[in-house]
Amino acid sequence: MRSFAGRDILSLKDFERNEFFRVFEIAEKLEPIARNRKNTDLLKEKTLVTAFYQPSTRTRLAHEAAMIRLGGQVTGFSDAKNTRAGDFYLESIKDTVKMLEFYGDMIVMRHFQQGAPHEAAKWASIPVINGGDGWGEHPTQVLTDLYTVLREKGRIDGLKWLAVGDMRMRTMHSLGYALTQFDCPITFVSPPDMSLTDEFQDELKDFSLDYKIADHVEEAIADADVILVEPVVQPDYTKSRDERDADSDVGMTPDNYKITRELLSTKAKSDAILLHSLPRMDEIPVDVDITRWSRYWQEAFNGVVMRMALLALISGKME
Ligand code: CP
Repeated sequence: MRSFAGRDILSLKDFERNEFFRVFEIAEKLEPIARNRKNTDLLKEKTLVTAFYQPSTRTRLAHEAAMIRLGGQVTGFSDAKNTRAGDFYLESIKDTVKMLEFYGDMIVMRHFQQGAPHEAAKWASIPVINGGDGWGEHPTQVLTDLYTVLREKGRIDGLKWLAVGDMRMRTMHSLGYALTQFDCPITFVSPPDMSLTDEFQDELKDFSLDYKIADHVEEAIADADVILVEPVVQPDYTKSRDERDADSDVGMTPDNYKITRELLSTKAKSDAILLHSLPRMDEIPVDVDITRWSRYWQEAFNGVVMRMALLALISGKME
């Protein structure tokens, strides 16, 4: 297996099966630190730089929390408007990263341009983690999803997945790539204008992913062990910021892409689990939160543990 020390985490396309399991193994080892809320000093000599060109609640703060749990330091920005990349200069990724590499030992970057973290990694002498790039990928989110499945179901291979939502989403790309390494058939359900691109389907076929496309959630849900949902009402991920007024009408999620309590209790497997990377609109109504299917709050905890594992591995503190 390739060493993780010094490695960029940009895509799950280049992740090998045994590497997934190694990350999960390290996450399990480090989990008691987060569970017991007792920080350690494993990364006390290290600093994480957060470079967020797009808003985030979970990804940035979970990386920061993970670093703090491991005794490390954090610096960075959560709004590029306060940097030279967001003012008159529109400073390039290269010039920005040639600074950031001296401010810390690892960078986690979210950007509205697909491929921006890859560009950063080209110039940085320190590892870069992709915290979501435009419509591109969101590898740490999908590692969190898979780790949650492993913890909740005790295995990954042999489980059937249903993915519902906008298939152009970065999470869906990372999910598709990741599942090529497991024995996990998947069914995709999306609005017609948000379907898997031909290009992405070609890649999935190249990797022999066992997938199908269905029109209706109601028909596909009965078989699923893992139901992963993303919004179909959502912002433009190619913008640095897409705001709306609380009272503006962006439309509601059509019933076909909603996972309701009634649907779960009448059609889903009794032991299926429901994942959502969040934030949500109305595709999972709040009364689903306390059903036995929901696991998205567990994902919040697992998201910190997963980032702890990645930081420990790429810093070379754990092998
Ligand atoms: N899941 C996720 O990426 O959430 P944030 O946009 O809040 O980071």
